[in-house]
Amino acid sequence: MKLGTCYYPEHWPEHLWAEDARRMAETGLEQVRIGEFVWSRIEPEPGRFDWDWLDRAIATLHGAGLEVILGTPTATPPKWLVDRMPDMVAIDAQGHPRGFGSRRHYCFSHRGYRAEAARITRAVAERYGHHPAVVAWQTDNEYGCHDTALSFSEAARIAFREWLADRYGTIAALNRAWGTVFWSMEYRSFAEIDLPNLTVTEANPAHWLAFRRFASDEVVAFNRIQAEILRELSPGRDVVHNYMGFFTEFDHHAVAADLDVVGWDSYPLGFLDSFPFPEADKLAYARQGHPDIAAFHHDLYRGCTPGGRWSVLEQQPGPVNWARHNPAPLPGMVRLWTLEAMAHGAELVSYFRWRQFPQAQEQHHAGLLRPDGEPAPGLIEAAQSARDIAALGVIGAAPRQVALVFAYDADWVTKIQPQGAGLSALWATFACYSALRKLGLDIDIVPPGRSLDGYAMVVLPCLPIVPAGLVEQLQRFSGQIVIGPRSGSRDADFAIPDGLPPGPLQALFPGKVVRVESLRPGLTHPGEGWEIARWREDLETSSELELCASDGTPACWKHGNLRYLAAWPEPGLASETLSRAARDAGLALHALPAGLRLRRAGNRTFAFNYATQTFELPDTVTGGLLLGQRQLPPAGVAVLEG
Ligand code: GAL
Repeated sequence: MKLGTCYYPEHWPEHLWAEDARRMAETGLEQVRIGEFVWSRIEPEPGRFDWDWLDRAIATLHGAGLEVILGTPTATPPKWLVDRMPDMVAIDAQGHPRGFGSRRHYCFSHRGYRAEAARITRAVAERYGHHPAVVAWQTDNEYGCHDTALSFSEAARIAFREWLADRYGTIAALNRAWGTVFWSMEYRSFAEIDLPNLTVTEANPAHWLAFRRFASDEVVAFNRIQAEILRELSPGRDVVHNYMGFFTEFDHHAVAADLDVVGWDSYPLGFLDSFPFPEADKLAYARQGHPDIAAFHHDLYRGCTPGGRWSVLEQQPGPVNWARHNPAPLPGMVRLWTLEAMAHGAELVSYFRWRQFPQAQEQHHAGLLRPDGEPAPGLIEAAQSARDIAALGVIGAAPRQVALVFAYDADWVTKIQPQGAGLSALWATFACYSALRKLGLDIDIVPPGRSLDGYAMVVLPCLPIVPAGLVEQLQRFSGQIVIGPRSGSRDADFAIPDGLPPGPLQALFPGKVVRVESLRPGLTHPGEGWEIARWREDLETSSELELCASDGTPACWKHGNLRYLAAWPEPGLASETLSRAARDAGLALHALPAGLRLRRAGNRTFAFNYATQTFELPDTVTGGLLLGQRQLPPAGVAVLEG
């Protein structure tokens, strides 16, 4: 694994560049990601390009032996372009234009902007496509960030109608599939169909699902245009994009089909503060991040392509500026996050950013250097990480233990129709992931359809739409299977399947879900060390009842090698169910103290302490120490071999 940093030469006087590059190399950094926001500097006037400064910046980095990941600048179209093409901006769900003055102010569906994005991509790729320093291209920056994946523009409306006509063929087929007879919503032609915003009450969920699929396809198409140009003009270089955390607004599996390496931006403290974690966890892990946040995304994005190439393109180096609270990481956490990415198979960890910029929107966001150029704490830890990585050398892959199946449309279905507050497929998947990690297991998060060969266990935490082929795959699978609530509960057009949920999964499991209910906080059915909370399902089934609450309410049904979890995977229940399945699968489990996590890589075991107290590694963690101690301090990392 290499280390790198995100660098903005355009922020700094040119006389600093050479010294910056020298210090990067001295720190042990090998790659520099630049250029993703430079449009106004490379094309200051329409058609007038100014490449000289960027030529010199790249030459300076190259001269210091650094490799360059060059961004296409399409996340920040310049003012002159927006003025020339005012309807290129995205429109929010309330119908308001998303104005100029920050970033991502474009609509994925606007054909004129697509042409402009292609033009500037071609210009940059023609200039630098064969440059020996350029090893990879990043398309755009964080597709969908700041709520921009969905745009309710005229361009989107027109393109959506075409997309619908393509998918359904006839308006009668669409009316049937969507059940538009309900509330007299029937259409006479595709031209009558609007976007699903601004309705009086909720729009038809089938309409929303179609719109989300369409919007995701628009992101795929937008990215593909750039990927194709880059492959044509810059052969042999990787095409990458930087995904975000807990973000499902487009199908990341589909976009990844056009990428060589899936990147993501890891901000564990910002994510913990911003997403719905229990208050106690927010406090306990405020300076470390929840112990499963980074690893969850490493494993999710590694699974986006069959080859599994992935990187951290932005790594939090200190406090960020954008969460409600922005604490500094515990000393050692930047190194821990770095080595954990290594353990999960990253090719690169690139710190965001080299030097803190004293102006504009991100003034309080740390860099590896302070604004005055002195080292910030992150720099010292980056340098230490570089030494650790060199000492550890090449590491192997994790064994295949558990495959967690996640699909983006699962999250769309559960967000469009949650039925209970905060119940989404993404969070069900995270809950199962976290429960499995606490048992010390290694997990791959894969899309439906990926080979399940070699795994001891497969978990579908929440998969409402079961795609063709998955049932047959599971029928052939001889390990343990766990199926979570809402799985098989919708067809591709958002209807409850004939024969009731779990729909096609009934080929594996003799039971049907006859009623579901969601439960307000406090309305629970306690079991032994776990409880049924938030969501539960009544089944008619001939399978065996494996787990029920003290009042007899069923929680988990078992049929051969398959368990059906008839309640939300709350931490206790997820852990109870998944540990039973893991034991049946013959997997060795660990009793890890809260905050301790493991990851295997070849014949090595990495241990990470996310807690604020020192732990002794449990006896089940064996091998000779290559790094660290068995007494693991807060933010400590140990690596054992054998
Ligand atoms: C990311 C983004 C970067 C920077 C960073 C701050 O979302 O890609 O450009 O804004 O956040 O944490």
